[in-house]
Amino acid sequence: MELSVVGLGKLGLCTAAYFASKGHKVIGFDKNAHRVGELEQKRCPIRETGLEMLLETAWDRFSVTMDLAEAVHRSDITLIIVPTPSGADGRFSNEYVEAVLRGIGPALASKDGFHVVDVVSTVMPGSSENVFIPLLEELSGKVCGEDFGLVYNPEFIALGSVIEDFARPDMVLIGASDERSGGMVERLYLSSCENEPHIAKMSLVNAEIAKLSLNCFVTMKISFANELASICEKVPGADVDAITEAIGQDSRIGGKCVKAGLGFGGPCFPRDNVAFQAFARGAGIEARLGPQVVAVNESVVGRLFEIVRQKADGGAKVALLGLSYKPGTHIVEESQSVILAEKLRDAGYKVAVHDPLALRSAKEVLGESVVYDQDVYSCAKDAGAVVLMTDWPEYSRLDWRRIESLVKDGALLLDSWRALKKVTFNGLRYTGLGIGAEASQELLHSAIA
Ligand SMILES: NC(=O)c1ccc[n+]([C@@H]2O[C@H](COP(=O)([O-])OP(=O)(O)OC[C@H]3O[C@@H](n4cnc5c(N)ncnc54)[C@H](O)[C@@H]3O)[C@@H](O)[C@H]2O)c1
Repeated sequence: MELSVVGLGKLGLCTAAYFASKGHKVIGFDKNAHRVGELEQKRCPIRETGLEMLLETAWDRFSVTMDLAEAVHRSDITLIIVPTPSGADGRFSNEYVEAVLRGIGPALASKDGFHVVDVVSTVMPGSSENVFIPLLEELSGKVCGEDFGLVYNPEFIALGSVIEDFARPDMVLIGASDERSGGMVERLYLSSCENEPHIAKMSLVNAEIAKLSLNCFVTMKISFANELASICEKVPGADVDAITEAIGQDSRIGGKCVKAGLGFGGPCFPRDNVAFQAFARGAGIEARLGPQVVAVNESVVGRLFEIVRQKADGGAKVALLGLSYKPGTHIVEESQSVILAEKLRDAGYKVAVHDPLALRSAKEVLGESVVYDQDVYSCAKDAGAVVLMTDWPEYSRLDWRRIESLVKDGALLLDSWRALKKVTFNGLRYTGLGIGAEASQELLHSAIA
């Protein structure tokens, strides 16, 4: 198929590269001339696992342009993957999508043959029917469903594993104005995925609601696990992993996203949750689960902070290992680690931070208020507390004997993901988030009394 991709950012460039690597001819458009220039030079301007290698296999079929009409004319489907920033009320703004549609409308008017406009950006329910279709019909003078089609086809990828997620999605969500358009996008995925995903075809508004619902449901699972962990911490002998690993075996629950640890962060989950609440309010319903999911999420940093406050001297050096909101990415947006760094710094601790990828992005947020260490051992040196934050696999492979010899005597090791719970420490006092502490004996007695 011939595709155009508008918006060559974190998701858009991966999308363009992925489909081109699977044999489709792709033309990319972005308003950022520098980004387009880099791509013209066959340089990869986005950091994402496997993207550079994927582009190497895709350059023959992937070109870029600064001319949106050309991109539309040279393709059958245009995928729009531009930002939809959240407003103060939590609703996503359609400003950038509408700007693109204003360019696509006239291009549709001058194009012969059927064309599909496929919005991938996350939008508020109702946007396609109430805003996008009327705008395109007005600007093109054509009829949606007859002369062109509109599809809403959001992705469920995670940064750090975007390429893998594209190759093997559980489900492809396709909201379509008409059967022909939905069928074209379905064929695009079936010819590109390496598995046989469930294709969920539905109306535009149902797809818009489904996108938000899926992300909100996942965050609900995460918050359940984290609330359970906070309870387990007060129950001697309890270990949240034993419980979540068991309940995850039940197919009604499923094993993904039930591991307790840090709260959710990143560019999607937090804002999708708030947007869902705004959507419900718009429908005259007060969503009651969402605010609780957010409250539990926000409480995780408070729990970590309290443990450090109780077990490490005031003013001590605290080494935070991991800053990105999850492993495999440099993104620190809504990262629990950055929030904890700020909280500790404000409380007078000397904060040192390490991350395999995210030091530069963290510096843009935390400035000079913390110490950035490229070397994890120098980060831990003389620390009164070491806190394992992002679940980077390399942290469990560190030379922990060496770290024990570098930290202050009896320093706290706070392990958010219990990656080291089987290791015996001598110079570090180990505390795993979600593992019951003896000090809580009284609470247990009062709970069973
Ligand atoms: N990044 C993710 O993990 C992810 C996951 C699921 C959904 N999404 C959704 O995808 C959309 C894009 O997210 P992203 O992370 O790729 O954003 P991004 O900021 O990384 O990239 C957006 C790109 O769009 C370009 N752009 C903006 N306005 C444009 C215009 N008028 N014409 C052409 N190009 C334009 C920008 O220059 C930029 O290159 C958002 O709606 C987001 O919610 C993102």
